[in-house]
Amino acid sequence: MPDTPVIWPFTRSSLAIEFVGAEGCHLHTRDGRRVLDAAGGAMVVNIGHGRREPAEAMARASTALSYVIPPFVTPQRMQLAERLQRDWLPPGFTRMHLSSGGSEAVETAIKLARQYHVARGEEGRWKVIGRDLSYHGATVATLEIGGHAARRAPLLAMARATPKAPPHYCLRCPLGKSWPTCDVACADEVEAIILHEGPETVAAVIAEPVVGSSGGAIEPPPGYWRKLRAICDRHGVLLIADEVVTGFGRTGVRFASEAEGALPDIIATAKGMSGGYAPIGGTFAPDRIAEPLERIGDAPMFYTFSAHPAACAAADTVLDILDRENLMARAREMGDRLGTRLQKLKQHPNVAEVRGRGLLRAIEIVRDRETLERFAPEANVTMKVLQAGFAENVYFYPGGTGAHRDVIVLAPPFIVSDAEIETMCAVLERAIDTAVRTDGQIT
Ligand SMILES: Cc1ncc(COP(=O)(O)O)c(C=O)c1O
Repeated sequence: MPDTPVIWPFTRSSLAIEFVGAEGCHLHTRDGRRVLDAAGGAMVVNIGHGRREPAEAMARASTALSYVIPPFVTPQRMQLAERLQRDWLPPGFTRMHLSSGGSEAVETAIKLARQYHVARGEEGRWKVIGRDLSYHGATVATLEIGGHAARRAPLLAMARATPKAPPHYCLRCPLGKSWPTCDVACADEVEAIILHEGPETVAAVIAEPVVGSSGGAIEPPPGYWRKLRAICDRHGVLLIADEVVTGFGRTGVRFASEAEGALPDIIATAKGMSGGYAPIGGTFAPDRIAEPLERIGDAPMFYTFSAHPAACAAADTVLDILDRENLMARAREMGDRLGTRLQKLKQHPNVAEVRGRGLLRAIEIVRDRETLERFAPEANVTMKVLQAGFAENVYFYPGGTGAHRDVIVLAPPFIVSDAEIETMCAVLERAIDTAVRTDGQIT
């Protein structure tokens, strides 16, 4: 073991690089490098780094009112709530519970589903059906309902196990089928699980409309989400959309589930809600979900820092900027250009797939494109791509989980330029070459 003491982070990490500033799409290291943020941090940054307005709004909010418990009304909370209802949330989504990030937002969503059923006298409904390859958060409960194999593994003994449905991962269909002849059979698997478990025991189904980093920007086949909606309706099960990554314009529309033509019952979101300027998440639902709780005097429990006034002010300002500068349309347009440019990587002998929507894109690297054989885990291809990218001052996000490895995610700020797209794609291509060559697989 090296004898230098570790102060940050908790365990020794090769990611402990010091950043001291940021502007636009670039991060600044202490040693003077400008690193292109091709991943918007963790698919968070949308209006870009270094904007003064959110920082000033937070300073004003904190100066006026540092803290009151979440149920109290404050101007910052009201302003954000009104903006969300007016400009962002799907029709009918009138109720909101704010928290400090995605895990809390999802945890609130699954507890809310349970509380809803209990309030309606259906005490037996507690199971939440998730899917393999999906990530829903880092708390014990959200890890349990998710399918992030690597992060779940150490915690399996601590939570009550619930079944997982197969993902809509058409490149390697877990059911061995192909679209469109499959008729979206992976959605039927959700129904099979509900029937097997007994619908009277199932509270909710949770899904990301486009699977974020753990799958790597995996889009649903047409009709998948509508089928999921119909299945949930048939069995009195609530449908929760995890839009922590996809919410607030990341895929070029407000919420990705809206674009699928079937609204969920509950939406959980975070990340882009404040574009990274403050920790905030939200759980949103229509009146019909809140009313049964009200009838029995129940409510979702707040976290101490839920709806923090400064975080609300930051989110309100970021959403205002997204709107004023028409950045969601820009995410759509630049997303198309990024997608087009990434198509060139499809020619690469080690790229199995280029996928995604809007400014949420990913590539999957394989040893053999014909058989889809992956590189061995010890080859550490993902880390090598990241390191090679970083050596050329570009930061990519490592996707995948467990055996589903070597997925690289690109999710730049919505203000990304054509030149920056060109740089990140050219560097990515070279980084893949470097990573697979150092593995000794290419001569
Ligand atoms: C789809 C999804 N849900 C939930 C979460 C958890 O969010 P957080 O890390 O803000 O707690 C994440 C985080 O990456 C995510 O990608």
